[in-house]
Amino acid sequence: MKIRGKVLIIDGKKVAFSLLEDLKLKIDKLDKKPGLAVILANDDYSSKVYVASKEKHSIALGLKSCVYRFDKSITQGKLISLIHELNENPEINGILVQLPLYSHLCEREILEVISPKKDVDGFHPVNVGKLYAGLNPYAVCCTPKGIVKLLKAYKIKLEGKNVVVIGRSNIVGKPVAALLTNENATVTLAHSKTKNLKEHTKKADIIVSATGHPKLIKADMVKKGAVVIDVGISRQLDGRLIGDVDFEKVKDIASYITPVPGGVGPMTIACLMENTYELYLLQNKG
Ligand code: GUN
Repeated sequence: MKIRGKVLIIDGKKVAFSLLEDLKLKIDKLDKKPGLAVILANDDYSSKVYVASKEKHSIALGLKSCVYRFDKSITQGKLISLIHELNENPEINGILVQLPLYSHLCEREILEVISPKKDVDGFHPVNVGKLYAGLNPYAVCCTPKGIVKLLKAYKIKLEGKNVVVIGRSNIVGKPVAALLTNENATVTLAHSKTKNLKEHTKKADIIVSATGHPKLIKADMVKKGAVVIDVGISRQLDGRLIGDVDFEKVKDIASYITPVPGGVGPMTIACLMENTYELYLLQNKG
């Protein structure tokens, strides 16, 4: 419960845990297990960690987990053939290509080969289009979906609120702006070329920052009582993870704030698991 005048730290781990518990009960009741295929074609350390976590969660939930890890010799053609095979494989319900890819691979072409009904990330143009049109995508991008679920779990009203989203990536910024618009918020999408960011953030009831710039959001950029959602995650030299928000200072001004780690991150994974289950239902409805 929120105590008046005191910041509430949004517990993403707790909300995600509860979502995963519900999901496990539903998955346990199925005769056939939903299958998630994850493709890693990149040498990046963070991507390896994310993929390992996706695999671990899939197994814990009782999903069929298939992870394909490739070295730099992988070609565009081979990846496309694999995706075609996975599109046809009835044991696989969700296909995820971890981004970014090796620089010689064409991300757009690869994402477009995934069947929209198996596009567990919601990155296919069909699903992006459905999201923007306010129609039901087969799957909604996991981090944006997780952010809206977190806000709803804490009963934070969205209708009519001024939201400033910072960062215009296809993975977070643009889709979260669309989702929040569909929730009747008034959304400003700011980015690296935005002039005087503070002028925008100062007016925001809700700030969603997804830039990867450590401590970009300072206390003097935040209106008293604003809700602050930090999607950024950067590793410091000492190995600690920090977000886009100067947490220690901003928490004295905000009404709700997400920590890094333990805020949005766990919701991304939980929504990926939920999307896999939902695509399974979609593909197996009688
Ligand atoms: N890289 C960083 N975040 C994501 C994500 O949500 N999905 C995929 N496929 N790649 C990512």
